[in-house]
Amino acid sequence: MRKLSRRDFVKSGAAAGLAAATPQVLGQAPTVLTPRSAKPVVISSANGNFYKNGGTQTGVEKAFALMTGGKDVLESLVAGVNILELDPEEDSVGYGGLPNADGVVQLDSCCMHGPRKRAGGVAALEGVRTPSLVAHAVLQQTDHHLLVGKGAQGFARNLGFKIEDDLNTERSRRLWLEWKRRTDPGHYLDPDKRAELHEATRQAMVAEGLLRSRHLHGTINCDGLSPRGELAGVTTTSGLAWKIPGRVGDSPILGAGLYVDGAVGAAGSTGRGEANLYGLSSFLIVEQMRQGKAPKDACMEALKRIQANTVEKRLLNARGLPNFNVSFYAVNLKGEFAGAALYGEDPEETGWAGETGRRVRFAVCTEKGPETLVCDGLLPGAP
Ligand code: GLY
Repeated sequence: MRKLSRRDFVKSGAAAGLAAATPQVLGQAPTVLTPRSAKPVVISSANGNFYKNGGTQTGVEKAFALMTGGKDVLESLVAGVNILELDPEEDSVGYGGLPNADGVVQLDSCCMHGPRKRAGGVAALEGVRTPSLVAHAVLQQTDHHLLVGKGAQGFARNLGFKIEDDLNTERSRRLWLEWKRRTDPGHYLDPDKRAELHEATRQAMVAEGLLRSRHLHGTINCDGLSPRGELAGVTTTSGLAWKIPGRVGDSPILGAGLYVDGAVGAAGSTGRGEANLYGLSSFLIVEQMRQGKAPKDACMEALKRIQANTVEKRLLNARGLPNFNVSFYAVNLKGEFAGAALYGEDPEETGWAGETGRRVRFAVCTEKGPETLVCDGLLPGAP
Protein backbone atom coordinates (compact mmCIF):
# COMPACT_ATOMS: atom_id res chain seq x y z
CA MET A 1 0.00 0.00 0.00
CA ARG A 2 1.31 3.48 -0.89
CA LYS A 3 2.40 5.54 2.10
CA LEU A 4 0.64 8.85 2.64
CA SER A 5 2.82 11.91 2.25
CA ARG A 6 2.02 14.94 4.43
CA ARG A 7 0.47 16.59 1.38
CA ASP A 8 -1.81 13.59 0.83
CA PHE A 9 -2.74 13.66 4.49
CA VAL A 10 -3.70 17.31 4.32
CA LYS A 11 -5.81 16.54 1.25
CA SER A 12 -7.55 13.68 3.03
CA GLY A 13 -10.46 13.90 5.44
CA ALA A 14 -8.20 13.15 8.41
CA ALA A 15 -6.80 16.65 8.35
CA ALA A 16 -10.19 18.23 7.72
CA GLY A 17 -11.36 16.91 11.09
CA LEU A 18 -8.52 18.76 12.83
CA ALA A 19 -9.09 22.03 11.06
CA ALA A 20 -10.98 24.90 12.66
CA ALA A 21 -14.61 23.81 12.49
CA THR A 22 -16.43 26.55 10.71
CA PRO A 23 -18.96 26.14 7.90
CA GLN A 24 -16.45 27.76 5.54
CA VAL A 25 -13.78 25.20 6.36
CA LEU A 26 -16.35 22.46 5.97
CA GLY A 27 -16.69 23.50 2.35
CA GLN A 28 -13.18 22.28 1.59
CA ALA A 29 -13.55 18.59 0.87
CA PRO A 30 -10.51 16.53 0.04
CA THR A 31 -9.81 16.10 -3.62
CA VAL A 32 -10.15 12.53 -4.79
CA LEU A 33 -8.67 12.09 -8.22
CA THR A 34 -9.97 9.31 -10.42
CA PRO A 35 -8.30 8.22 -13.62
CA ARG A 36 -11.47 8.42 -15.74
CA SER A 37 -12.91 11.26 -17.69
CA ALA A 38 -16.62 11.66 -18.23
CA LYS A 39 -19.26 13.79 -19.87
CA PRO A 40 -20.32 15.91 -16.91
CA VAL A 41 -23.96 16.40 -15.99
CA VAL A 42 -26.04 17.71 -13.12
CA ILE A 43 -29.69 16.74 -12.81
CA SER A 44 -32.29 17.68 -10.24
CA SER A 45 -35.95 18.18 -9.57
CA ALA A 46 -37.36 21.01 -11.71
CA ASN A 47 -36.93 23.60 -8.93
CA GLY A 48 -33.17 23.23 -9.48
CA ASN A 49 -33.60 25.26 -12.65
CA PHE A 50 -36.06 27.79 -11.30
CA TYR A 51 -34.88 29.60 -8.17
CA LYS A 52 -31.89 31.96 -8.20
CA ASN A 53 -32.17 33.66 -4.77
CA GLY A 54 -31.63 37.05 -6.41
CA GLY A 55 -28.50 35.92 -8.22
CA THR A 56 -27.83 35.02 -11.82
CA GLN A 57 -27.55 31.24 -11.68
CA THR A 58 -30.02 28.47 -10.89
CA GLY A 59 -28.97 25.59 -8.66
CA VAL A 60 -28.05 23.20 -11.48
CA GLU A 61 -26.17 25.92 -13.35
CA LYS A 62 -24.10 26.78 -10.32
CA ALA A 63 -23.36 23.14 -9.47
CA PHE A 64 -22.33 22.43 -13.06
CA ALA A 65 -20.11 25.51 -13.29
CA LEU A 66 -18.32 24.71 -10.04
CA MET A 67 -17.95 21.02 -10.84
CA THR A 68 -16.58 21.59 -14.31
CA GLY A 69 -14.30 24.26 -12.85
CA GLY A 70 -12.62 21.56 -10.78
CA LYS A 71 -14.43 21.80 -7.45
CA ASP A 72 -15.30 18.58 -5.68
CA VAL A 73 -18.49 17.06 -7.14
CA LEU A 74 -20.44 16.92 -3.88
CA GLU A 75 -19.36 20.37 -2.75
CA SER A 76 -20.55 21.70 -6.11
CA LEU A 77 -23.97 20.05 -5.76
CA VAL A 78 -24.37 21.31 -2.19
CA ALA A 79 -23.49 24.85 -3.35
CA GLY A 80 -26.20 24.45 -6.01
CA VAL A 81 -28.94 23.41 -3.58
CA ASN A 82 -27.85 26.14 -1.14
CA ILE A 83 -29.36 28.62 -3.62
CA LEU A 84 -32.77 27.04 -3.09
CA GLU A 85 -32.33 26.58 0.65
CA LEU A 86 -31.60 30.28 1.05
CA ASP A 87 -34.23 31.57 -1.39
CA PRO A 88 -37.26 32.75 0.64
CA GLU A 89 -39.48 32.21 -2.40
CA GLU A 90 -38.79 28.44 -2.42
CA ASP A 91 -41.16 27.28 0.31
CA SER A 92 -40.28 23.59 0.18
CA VAL A 93 -36.58 23.73 1.01
CA GLY A 94 -34.50 25.36 3.76
CA TYR A 95 -35.26 28.91 4.97
CA GLY A 96 -38.95 29.70 4.50
CA GLY A 97 -39.85 26.02 4.00
CA LEU A 98 -43.40 25.26 5.04
CA PRO A 99 -43.34 24.45 8.77
CA ASN A 100 -44.69 21.49 10.73
CA ALA A 101 -48.03 21.36 12.55
CA ASP A 102 -46.61 23.46 15.40
CA GLY A 103 -45.44 26.17 12.99
CA VAL A 104 -41.78 25.18 13.34
CA VAL A 105 -39.60 24.71 10.25
CA GLN A 106 -37.86 21.32 10.58
CA LEU A 107 -35.43 20.42 7.83
CA ASP A 108 -34.08 17.12 6.48
CA SER A 109 -31.11 16.51 4.22
CA CYS A 110 -28.54 13.92 3.29
CA CYS A 111 -25.64 13.64 0.88
CA MET A 112 -23.38 10.94 -0.49
CA HIS A 113 -19.96 11.05 -2.10
CA GLY A 114 -19.48 8.22 -4.59
CA PRO A 115 -15.70 7.87 -4.81
CA ARG A 116 -15.13 8.50 -1.13
CA LYS A 117 -17.97 6.17 -0.13
CA ARG A 118 -19.08 8.51 2.60
CA ALA A 119 -22.47 9.79 3.59
CA GLY A 120 -24.04 12.23 6.02
CA GLY A 121 -27.53 13.35 6.94
CA VAL A 122 -29.61 15.42 9.32
CA ALA A 123 -33.29 15.13 10.15
CA ALA A 124 -35.76 17.34 11.96
CA LEU A 125 -33.09 20.03 12.17
CA GLU A 126 -34.31 23.43 13.37
CA GLY A 127 -32.69 26.85 13.07
CA VAL A 128 -30.15 26.31 10.27
CA ARG A 129 -31.06 27.64 6.83
CA THR A 130 -28.82 25.22 4.95
CA PRO A 131 -29.33 21.67 6.26
CA SER A 132 -27.36 20.29 3.29
CA LEU A 133 -24.21 21.97 4.65
CA VAL A 134 -24.78 20.34 8.04
CA ALA A 135 -25.38 16.96 6.33
CA HIS A 136 -22.10 17.53 4.49
CA ALA A 137 -20.38 18.26 7.80
CA VAL A 138 -21.74 14.99 9.21
CA LEU A 139 -20.19 13.26 6.18
CA GLN A 140 -16.87 15.03 6.56
CA GLN A 141 -16.36 15.27 10.27
CA THR A 142 -18.06 12.35 11.98
CA ASP A 143 -18.15 8.59 11.96
CA HIS A 144 -21.96 8.75 11.75
CA HIS A 145 -24.45 8.91 8.93
CA LEU A 146 -27.44 10.61 10.51
CA LEU A 147 -27.95 13.16 13.29
CA VAL A 148 -31.44 14.27 14.31
CA GLY A 149 -33.27 16.99 16.16
CA LYS A 150 -31.51 18.76 19.02
CA GLY A 151 -28.39 16.64 18.50
CA ALA A 152 -28.14 17.76 14.90
CA GLN A 153 -28.64 21.37 15.94
CA GLY A 154 -26.01 21.12 18.70
CA PHE A 155 -23.57 19.63 16.20
CA ALA A 156 -24.22 22.52 13.82
CA ARG A 157 -23.83 25.07 16.61
CA ASN A 158 -20.52 23.53 17.68
CA LEU A 159 -19.24 23.87 14.12
CA GLY A 160 -20.12 27.55 13.95
CA PHE A 161 -23.35 27.42 11.99
CA LYS A 162 -25.71 30.26 12.82
CA ILE A 163 -28.72 28.95 14.76
CA GLU A 164 -31.85 31.05 14.26
CA ASP A 165 -34.94 31.02 16.46
CA ASP A 166 -37.30 30.79 13.54
CA LEU A 167 -36.82 29.94 9.87
CA ASN A 168 -40.31 31.00 8.85
CA THR A 169 -40.72 33.74 6.33
CA GLU A 170 -43.76 35.97 6.25
CA ARG A 171 -45.18 33.71 3.54
CA SER A 172 -44.60 30.37 5.30
CA ARG A 173 -46.03 31.75 8.55
CA ARG A 174 -49.09 33.20 6.81
CA LEU A 175 -49.79 29.84 5.12
CA TRP A 176 -49.31 27.94 8.38
CA LEU A 177 -51.68 30.28 10.20
CA GLU A 178 -54.27 29.74 7.48
CA TRP A 179 -53.91 25.95 7.83
CA LYS A 180 -54.08 26.17 11.63
CA ARG A 181 -57.14 28.35 11.55
CA ARG A 182 -58.92 25.83 9.34
CA THR A 183 -57.83 22.62 11.05
CA ASP A 184 -57.74 23.35 14.73
CA PRO A 185 -60.70 25.50 15.66
CA GLY A 186 -61.52 23.41 18.68
CA HIS A 187 -58.21 21.70 19.59
CA TYR A 188 -59.83 18.39 20.55
CA LEU A 189 -61.26 16.79 17.44
CA ASP A 190 -61.73 13.06 17.10
CA PRO A 191 -58.30 11.77 15.91
CA ASP A 192 -59.72 10.12 12.76
CA LYS A 193 -61.71 13.19 11.81
CA ARG A 194 -58.72 15.34 12.57
CA ALA A 195 -56.46 13.33 10.23
CA GLU A 196 -59.09 13.52 7.49
CA LEU A 197 -59.50 17.23 8.08
CA HIS A 198 -55.74 17.84 7.86
CA GLU A 199 -55.50 16.10 4.49
CA ALA A 200 -58.70 17.74 3.21
CA THR A 201 -57.37 21.14 4.29
CA ARG A 202 -54.06 20.61 2.51
CA GLN A 203 -55.93 19.68 -0.65
CA ALA A 204 -58.39 22.58 -0.32
CA MET A 205 -55.53 25.05 0.05
CA VAL A 206 -54.03 23.60 -3.13
CA ALA A 207 -57.38 23.85 -4.95
CA GLU A 208 -57.71 27.48 -3.89
CA GLY A 209 -54.28 28.28 -5.29
CA LEU A 210 -52.73 29.09 -1.90
CA LEU A 211 -50.25 26.22 -2.21
CA ARG A 212 -48.74 24.23 -5.02
CA SER A 213 -49.41 20.55 -4.47
CA ARG A 214 -45.83 19.64 -5.26
CA HIS A 215 -44.79 21.83 -2.34
CA LEU A 216 -46.70 19.67 0.15
CA HIS A 217 -43.82 17.23 -0.24
CA GLY A 218 -41.51 19.69 -2.02
CA THR A 219 -37.84 18.91 -2.02
CA ILE A 220 -34.77 19.19 -4.18
CA ASN A 221 -32.71 16.19 -5.09
CA CYS A 222 -29.59 17.02 -7.11
CA ASP A 223 -27.12 14.47 -8.51
CA GLY A 224 -24.00 14.95 -10.57
CA LEU A 225 -21.26 13.28 -12.52
CA SER A 226 -18.07 15.31 -12.66
CA PRO A 227 -15.63 15.49 -15.57
CA ARG A 228 -13.41 13.17 -13.52
CA GLY A 229 -16.15 10.54 -13.47
CA GLU A 230 -17.08 11.15 -9.83
CA LEU A 231 -20.69 10.71 -8.78
CA ALA A 232 -22.42 12.36 -5.85
CA GLY A 233 -25.84 13.51 -4.75
CA VAL A 234 -27.68 15.65 -2.23
CA THR A 235 -31.31 15.92 -1.19
CA THR A 236 -32.74 18.68 0.99
CA THR A 237 -36.25 19.59 2.08
CA SER A 238 -38.53 21.11 4.67
CA GLY A 239 -40.56 17.92 4.32
CA LEU A 240 -44.29 17.49 4.29
CA ALA A 241 -46.09 20.74 5.00
CA TRP A 242 -47.82 20.78 8.40
CA LYS A 243 -46.32 17.40 9.37
CA ILE A 244 -46.47 15.99 12.89
CA PRO A 245 -43.45 17.52 14.66
CA GLY A 246 -40.60 15.07 14.44
CA ARG A 247 -41.88 13.40 11.27
CA VAL A 248 -38.92 12.48 9.08
CA GLY A 249 -39.51 11.80 5.41
CA ASP A 250 -37.44 10.04 2.80
CA SER A 251 -35.08 12.93 2.05
CA PRO A 252 -32.42 12.38 4.76
CA ILE A 253 -32.57 8.58 4.64
CA LEU A 254 -29.82 6.88 2.68
CA GLY A 255 -31.36 4.54 0.13
CA ALA A 256 -34.69 6.39 0.18
CA GLY A 257 -34.30 10.10 -0.68
CA LEU A 258 -30.85 9.50 -2.13
CA TYR A 259 -28.44 6.75 -2.99
CA VAL A 260 -25.08 6.96 -4.70
CA ASP A 261 -22.69 4.22 -5.66
CA GLY A 262 -19.60 5.74 -7.25
CA ALA A 263 -19.16 2.69 -9.47
CA VAL A 264 -22.75 2.62 -10.73
CA GLY A 265 -24.89 5.74 -10.48
CA ALA A 266 -26.86 8.13 -8.34
CA ALA A 267 -30.59 8.44 -7.74
CA GLY A 268 -32.88 10.56 -5.61
CA SER A 269 -36.48 11.52 -5.16
CA THR A 270 -39.12 14.14 -4.54
CA GLY A 271 -42.78 13.63 -3.67
CA ARG A 272 -44.58 11.55 -1.05
CA GLY A 273 -41.77 10.45 1.25
CA GLU A 274 -43.71 7.69 2.98
CA ALA A 275 -44.23 5.85 -0.33
CA ASN A 276 -40.54 6.04 -1.08
CA LEU A 277 -39.37 5.09 2.42
CA TYR A 278 -41.40 1.91 2.29
CA GLY A 279 -39.43 0.59 -0.70
CA LEU A 280 -36.06 2.40 -0.34
CA SER A 281 -36.50 3.34 -3.95
CA SER A 282 -33.26 5.22 -4.56
CA PHE A 283 -31.26 2.18 -3.49
CA LEU A 284 -33.47 0.04 -5.70
CA ILE A 285 -32.85 2.32 -8.68
CA VAL A 286 -29.08 2.20 -8.25
CA GLU A 287 -29.24 -1.59 -7.90
CA GLN A 288 -31.29 -1.78 -11.10
CA MET A 289 -28.67 0.32 -12.88
CA ARG A 290 -25.98 -1.99 -11.50
CA GLN A 291 -27.78 -4.85 -13.23
CA GLY A 292 -27.60 -2.98 -16.52
CA LYS A 293 -30.87 -1.06 -16.66
CA ALA A 294 -30.85 2.41 -18.20
CA PRO A 295 -31.68 5.21 -15.71
CA LYS A 296 -35.22 5.60 -17.06
CA ASP A 297 -36.00 1.87 -16.83
CA ALA A 298 -34.47 1.70 -13.35
CA CYS A 299 -36.72 4.57 -12.19
CA MET A 300 -39.76 2.86 -13.74
CA GLU A 301 -39.01 -0.31 -11.77
CA ALA A 302 -39.09 1.67 -8.50
CA LEU A 303 -42.29 3.43 -9.53
CA LYS A 304 -43.94 0.07 -10.29
CA ARG A 305 -42.92 -1.11 -6.83
CA ILE A 306 -44.54 1.98 -5.28
CA GLN A 307 -47.73 1.36 -7.20
CA ALA A 308 -47.78 -2.29 -6.09
CA ASN A 309 -47.22 -1.32 -2.45
CA THR A 310 -50.01 1.26 -2.43
CA VAL A 311 -53.07 -0.68 -1.32
CA GLU A 312 -54.68 1.42 1.41
CA LYS A 313 -57.95 2.93 0.27
CA ARG A 314 -57.11 6.39 1.63
CA LEU A 315 -54.12 6.46 -0.75
CA LEU A 316 -56.07 5.49 -3.87
CA ASN A 317 -57.98 7.69 -6.28
CA ALA A 318 -61.26 6.94 -8.03
CA ARG A 319 -59.35 4.88 -10.62
CA GLY A 320 -57.87 2.68 -7.87
CA LEU A 321 -54.41 4.15 -8.50
CA PRO A 322 -52.17 6.07 -6.07
CA ASN A 323 -53.58 9.51 -5.30
CA PHE A 324 -50.12 11.11 -4.92
CA ASN A 325 -47.05 11.64 -7.03
CA VAL A 326 -43.41 10.66 -6.56
CA SER A 327 -40.57 11.58 -8.93
CA PHE A 328 -37.12 10.07 -9.34
CA TYR A 329 -33.95 11.46 -10.89
CA ALA A 330 -31.11 9.16 -11.87
CA VAL A 331 -27.73 9.38 -13.57
CA ASN A 332 -25.25 6.63 -14.33
CA LEU A 333 -21.51 6.54 -14.73
CA LYS A 334 -21.84 7.02 -18.51
CA GLY A 335 -23.62 10.33 -17.94
CA GLU A 336 -26.98 8.93 -19.06
CA PHE A 337 -29.80 10.41 -17.01
CA ALA A 338 -33.56 10.39 -16.57
CA GLY A 339 -36.38 12.00 -14.67
CA ALA A 340 -39.45 9.82 -14.11
CA ALA A 341 -42.64 10.22 -12.12
CA LEU A 342 -45.50 8.01 -11.03
CA TYR A 343 -47.67 10.37 -13.06
CA GLY A 344 -46.16 12.37 -15.92
CA GLU A 345 -48.85 15.01 -15.49
CA ASP A 346 -49.89 17.08 -12.53
CA PRO A 347 -52.45 19.88 -12.58
CA GLU A 348 -50.07 21.96 -10.49
CA GLU A 349 -47.11 21.58 -12.78
CA THR A 350 -46.95 25.00 -14.37
CA GLY A 351 -44.51 27.80 -14.33
CA TRP A 352 -41.16 26.03 -14.11
CA ALA A 353 -38.69 28.32 -15.84
CA GLY A 354 -41.52 30.16 -17.55
CA GLU A 355 -43.00 27.02 -19.09
CA THR A 356 -46.64 26.13 -18.92
CA GLY A 357 -48.46 22.82 -19.12
CA ARG A 358 -49.27 19.97 -16.83
CA ARG A 359 -46.16 17.89 -17.44
CA VAL A 360 -43.94 17.02 -14.49
CA ARG A 361 -40.43 18.20 -15.21
CA PHE A 362 -36.87 17.89 -14.07
CA ALA A 363 -33.80 20.08 -14.44
CA VAL A 364 -30.53 19.22 -16.09
CA CYS A 365 -27.32 21.05 -16.86
CA THR A 366 -24.76 19.77 -19.35
CA GLU A 367 -22.25 21.39 -21.67
CA LYS A 368 -25.35 22.59 -23.60
CA GLY A 369 -26.41 24.67 -20.58
CA PRO A 370 -29.39 24.36 -18.25
CA GLU A 371 -32.62 22.80 -19.51
CA THR A 372 -35.95 21.87 -17.97
CA LEU A 373 -37.11 18.57 -19.43
CA VAL A 374 -40.27 16.50 -19.19
CA CYS A 375 -40.33 13.47 -16.86
CA ASP A 376 -41.47 10.11 -18.16
CA GLY A 377 -44.62 8.97 -16.38
CA LEU A 378 -45.50 5.41 -15.36
CA LEU A 379 -49.25 5.96 -15.10
CA PRO A 380 -51.56 7.88 -17.42
CA GLY A 381 -52.81 11.33 -16.54
CA ALA A 382 -52.43 12.99 -13.14
CA PRO A 383 -52.89 11.74 -9.56
N1 GLY B 1 -40.03 13.89 -0.18
C1 GLY B 1 -40.06 14.79 0.87
C2 GLY B 1 -40.86 14.35 2.04
O1 GLY B 1 -41.82 13.60 1.90
O2 GLY B 1 -40.51 14.77 3.13
